Amino acid sequence: MKTIATPAGMQAWSRDRQADGKRIACVPTMGFLHDGHLSLVRRARELADGVVLTLFVNPTQFGPGEDFAAYPRDAARDLDLCRRHGVDAVFMPADESMYLPDHSIYIAEESLSGTLCGASRPGHFRGVCTVVAKLFNCVLPQVAVFGQKDAQQIAIIRRMVRDLNFPVEIAVAPTVREPDGLAMSSRNARLDADSRKSALGLSRALREAACAYAAGTRDSAAVLAQMRTTMERAGLRVDYAAAVDALTLKPVAALADGVLLAVAAFAGGVRLIDNQVL
Ligand code: PAJ
Repeated sequence: MKTIATPAGMQAWSRDRQADGKRIACVPTMGFLHDGHLSLVRRARELADGVVLTLFVNPTQFGPGEDFAAYPRDAARDLDLCRRHGVDAVFMPADESMYLPDHSIYIAEESLSGTLCGASRPGHFRGVCTVVAKLFNCVLPQVAVFGQKDAQQIAIIRRMVRDLNFPVEIAVAPTVREPDGLAMSSRNARLDADSRKSALGLSRALREAACAYAAGTRDSAAVLAQMRTTMERAGLRVDYAAAVDALTLKPVAALADGVLLAVAAFAGGVRLIDNQVL
């Protein structure tokens, strides 16, 4: 497995493989890898001949006062996991090689980014689009794999790829969960014992909503109110509970197949998200 630290080195590695007719898949991550990330690696291996995992905690997607400094990091462990899961190259650029001191171009998606996580994290998706565009330009992949866990991120990246004509196919892999239902997240490592229990409120609220839908409930407002109650009872501070169209992210009044239920809440000081497509 190759470890690559510079954009030029990454491009050279990919061009070499592509000259041999190899197809490259990119798995963008911020590291502190868990089974959710590794499921994306498995999917990537099915979709391409070479897998590049990117490991970069992207400063531009964290707002002031967010957890950039506290974001968990363990590069040695991540590299070991990558080696054992058949990753061909890890791109782990230094902050300075991704963002020069006078970096001045950003990509802002202007329709889907103002709602859900974008409403509570202004500038977050501007940072995500900018870094993903840069990672695509470094890795030069034919396909990139993202997790359903970040449903709004997927909608926005798909829109960026469409509107800016990136020659990259976007593949989506399902959310991987702990045995008790909690969606895996690097941030789970920051939960203390009480917050870890509270955190179950997110997946419980989604499960209850899916059950209500299966039993015939179609009124979004009623289901969302119940989801909030479930999360609050678990001890969470709710950021949002929403029922939206999965592509446009616009709220829907009536639940239907394909509708995205999305939640965000704070467990202790840790912000967690989860979602479920009906
Ligand atoms: P990060 O949170 O590290 O997630 C990297 C990828 O792993 C994303 O596509 C995310 O959706 C996926 N993922 C996270 N938890 C998952 C789970 N439980 N099951 C399945 N997939 C999961 O998302 C980011 O990093 C960043 O915004 C990034 C795209 C790398 C840009 O900086």
